[in-house]
Amino acid sequence: MRVTFSKYISLVACAALVAALGCEPPTPPGKSKSTTTAASPSAPSTATNPTASEPPTTEPKTTEPATIEPQPSEPDSPAPEATEPMTTEPATPEPKPTTPDPPTTSENSSAMTIEKAAFGKTKDGTPVDLYTIQNKHGLVLKMTNYGAIVVDLETPDKDGKLANIQLGFPTLEGYLERHPYFGATIGRYGNRIAGGKFKIGDEEYTLATNNGPNHLHGGEHGFDAVVWNAEEVKTDNAAGVKFTYTSADGEEGYPGELKATVTYLLTNDDELSIEYEATTDKPTVVNLTNHCYWNLGGAGSGQILDHELMIAADKYLPIDETSIPTGELAPVAGTPFDFTKPTAIGARIDEVKQPPHVTKGYDHCYVLRGQEGKLELAARVKDPDSGRVMEVFTTEPGIQLYCGNFLDGSASGGGFKQHEAFCLETQHYPDSPNHPDFPSTLLKPGEKYQSKTVYKFSVEK
Ligand code: GLA
Repeated sequence: MRVTFSKYISLVACAALVAALGCEPPTPPGKSKSTTTAASPSAPSTATNPTASEPPTTEPKTTEPATIEPQPSEPDSPAPEATEPMTTEPATPEPKPTTPDPPTTSENSSAMTIEKAAFGKTKDGTPVDLYTIQNKHGLVLKMTNYGAIVVDLETPDKDGKLANIQLGFPTLEGYLERHPYFGATIGRYGNRIAGGKFKIGDEEYTLATNNGPNHLHGGEHGFDAVVWNAEEVKTDNAAGVKFTYTSADGEEGYPGELKATVTYLLTNDDELSIEYEATTDKPTVVNLTNHCYWNLGGAGSGQILDHELMIAADKYLPIDETSIPTGELAPVAGTPFDFTKPTAIGARIDEVKQPPHVTKGYDHCYVLRGQEGKLELAARVKDPDSGRVMEVFTTEPGIQLYCGNFLDGSASGGGFKQHEAFCLETQHYPDSPNHPDFPSTLLKPGEKYQSKTVYKFSVEK
C-alpha cells in the first residue's frame, strides 16, 4: 500500500491532536490501516494444536501459510478501549510537528512495501528514520534505526481488524530517554551479569552496574540506544531492514571491537524474523536479543493476564534476590512456573510475587527443550478475546518471560501499567559468563555469532 505524503502529514497531525488531548493510549500515527489486498487461500493452521509435552520442530520457513484471513478493516479505527482509567500524566511527549522529507516507497513483486520517512533527530542531531513495511495480508511492521527498535507491529484479530500489538511511543522523543527497552535490540548482553564483572581467561572485565549491583542489557548506553546503519532488504517472500553497528573495543567495558548485524524481516507468512550475527577481534561475550512488549489484545487494551501461554521448557532458572540465576536448573513441574500446557499468565502470577520468590511477577529464564542452534518452537501465546496467536521459534537455548512488572503508568514507560504486556526474550541464560556450566556466550576472533528467532502470527476463532 502506498501512503501519499499528504496522507502521511495528516496522520502525523492527527496523532499530534490525539496526544495533545491525552484521550487515547499511546500508539504511533497511522495505527490502523485498511488493506485492499485480496485474501489468500487459507491453509490448515499450524497453530490449532499446541503440543505441551512434545513441541513441533517445524521450521518456520517450511510451515504452511498462516491462517490469518484478511478482511477489510475500518480505516483509522480506534485503539481498543483501555480497561483501566488512563494516567493523568501525559503518556507521551509531544509528537514532532515537522516532517522534513516525504516518505519514499518501494515495492516488489511479492506485494511487500517498504516506506522510509524521517523519524526525528537524536540529542546530538543525528537524523533517524522510521521504516514501514507491509506484507500482502496487511500486517504492518514499523522500525527505527535508533536502537534497531520495533516501533509498531499491526496484525489482524479474528474479525480481521488491525491493531498494534507491541508497546512503544508515537515519536522518537520517548525512545531517547531511559525507557523500558520497548521493542529494542539488546546488546552486547541481554539480561544481567552479576556484579558487572566477568573473566575471560585470567583477565577480569568490569561493566557498568545499572541494575542494583548488576549489569543489565548492555549497560548505560547499550545497543538499544545507539544509531544503527540501515539497509532495506527484500526477498521473494519478505521485506525488512538489515541493521549494522560496530561497537568499539572497550565500549561499555566489553573487550573487542564487535561488528553486529540484526536483520528484521516481515514475511508473507505473517512472521517477524530476526537474525543476529556478530564477529569480534578479541575474545568477548555476546548475547543479543529483542525486547518487544506484546499485548495480543492491542497495545493499551489492558492487562495480559488472560493470555494463554505455553513454553516448551521443563526447567527454569531460579534466581537470587538480585535476579541472578543461582545456577540450578529447576524443574517447573508442580510450580507456578510450569507453562508446559497452555495456562493463563495470570493464573498463578500472585504466587510468584510472594516469598520465597523475589520478583513482582514472572521475570525468569526458561531452559528450552529445543536443541541449541536449531530453530524450534519455544513458546505459543493466545489471547482468547482477540483470537490472536503468536508462536515463537528460536535457535537460542533460553527464553526470558517478563510480564511488564515494572510498568507503572509513568510517562517514561509510555503510560502503560503493570502487566499490560509480556516479553519473551530469546537468549542465552543470564549471567552465563560467570556460570561455566551454562551454554557459552564466549565469542572468539574468527568465529561468527549467529542466532535466529521467528515470531509467527495467526488467529484462532
Ligand atoms: C528484562 C529483565 C527485567 C527488566 C526488563 C526491562 O526482562 O529481566 O527484570 O529489567 O528486562 O525492564
